[in-house]
Amino acid sequence: MSFITKSILITNIGQKQRWSTTASIIRTFSSHSQNDLYRSLIFEKAFIDGKFCQSENGEKFKVFNPSNGKLIGNVADCTVNDVKRAVQVAKKSFNDHWSQTLAKDRAQLLKRLFTLQLDNAEPLAQLITAEMGKPLRESRGEIMYGASFLEWFAEQARRIHGEILQSPWPDKRISYRKEPSGVVAIITPWNFPNAMVTRKLAAALAAGCTVVIKPPEDTPFSVLALAALSIKAGFPPGVINIVPVSRQNTQNIGSYICNNSDISVISFTGSTSVGKWLIKNSANTVKRVCLELGGDAPFIVFDSANIDKAVQGCIVSKFRNAGQTCVCANRIFVQDGIHDQFVNALAEQMQKELIIGDGFDDHTTIGPLINEKAVEKVISHVEDAQNKGAKILIGGRKHEKGGYFFQPTLMTNAKSDMLIAHEETFGPVAAVFRFKTEDEVIRIANDCRRGLAGYFYSQDYAQIERVTRRLEVGMIGINDGILSCCEAPFGGVKESGLGREGSHFGVDEFLDVKYVCHGGF
Ligand code: SIN
Repeated sequence: MSFITKSILITNIGQKQRWSTTASIIRTFSSHSQNDLYRSLIFEKAFIDGKFCQSENGEKFKVFNPSNGKLIGNVADCTVNDVKRAVQVAKKSFNDHWSQTLAKDRAQLLKRLFTLQLDNAEPLAQLITAEMGKPLRESRGEIMYGASFLEWFAEQARRIHGEILQSPWPDKRISYRKEPSGVVAIITPWNFPNAMVTRKLAAALAAGCTVVIKPPEDTPFSVLALAALSIKAGFPPGVINIVPVSRQNTQNIGSYICNNSDISVISFTGSTSVGKWLIKNSANTVKRVCLELGGDAPFIVFDSANIDKAVQGCIVSKFRNAGQTCVCANRIFVQDGIHDQFVNALAEQMQKELIIGDGFDDHTTIGPLINEKAVEKVISHVEDAQNKGAKILIGGRKHEKGGYFFQPTLMTNAKSDMLIAHEETFGPVAAVFRFKTEDEVIRIANDCRRGLAGYFYSQDYAQIERVTRRLEVGMIGINDGILSCCEAPFGGVKESGLGREGSHFGVDEFLDVKYVCHGGF
């Protein structure tokens, strides 16, 4: 094991290794490791009140490895009564102690969890690869990324404060303070089984909230492993609770969460349709709903771009995690003057860098999709595009390995009447649209109800300013294809969500502002 001052961020795709500059994360790994270390971190139970437990009725559901279809384990399938108990316990812990702990004590516990995540980084990374298939080096990057939120919010815990305001009355002092909102229900996706949890969990705990987490059906073990680490870190029972739920029971539990008035906040990452459902169903209890929803990221390459850099950025943005990220490039717009040159260079690079396989294989840069439904969606997008005139240059079909493997695909002549122009593909398909003018591409890029991330490549400074201003998205990558980090606000506009995660804004989702007017002196 070697120690360096930089860590792998998220991706192993790209000839040049991408490094984050997070100096505080100091550990990286040799490329050789025993690939079954993750088994020691498999807990097949729910986690309520500081203990692993079966579901009330003893039911379980199965979790499979998407690379080979093998069973990883059977996990407790929680009922409404289990979730009810978890919420009661979380509420009691919130009222009895957690909301009143000193910020520096919460910070200490989060720091310990951060250290434990680093100490267990290899088995945790393997667990991600086993459960969702991403290449092991990407999983290692995710563990570092996930850890960065634990460290960041440990630091932020001590910076939550109110203000004394200028009073308009001589005999009254006015101020506001920030107080933890209460019990938070956290619902996370499978595409980043660790980091999407820590980004919410660490912020909620730093704010002084207690949590009930519903992990994704496909990757519950990565979340339950954090419970084991939280015991070691010393979190009191009841502060963190985890209730795995099978796909078939999810809607029922979701509805219970929405209608439970003991839950003050729902923090969800996932599809726009489920996000809308959560807003609608929680209207009765008027709770805060923080949403990180789908994207449809435009990736624009202008004539003035550095083509090599644009190709490299496109590869990491489009193909990391097999294209299964909310911020990945979904619509690649290339200006007329460099269109052919860019497409040829992208095709060449894809053939060089994209190697499909089991995530545990050292050479793999693209793993499988998560399940059959995901494969069907990608196929439907490719077929629809082909029927409407798109030209497939590379790939376009299920990979000969079978299962959930889909060939990295490059198509040109994409048009705005295609499904791929309006829906998130969530797969390794690069669809290239040709455009002529800046006005035209801005209009098409913004002709979309989702606005999470957007990317563009240009070396024209005036254009950079204009396009930054006009793109309707929550996050912009200029001459870069990767933008996520704990320091920056992550979130979208329009139907891509509500609120921001990470950054100093991240804790605000879990705090209430209380205005105090103190008179009579
Ligand atoms: C996501 O795909 O939801 C998150 C990706 C990221 O944090 O970069």
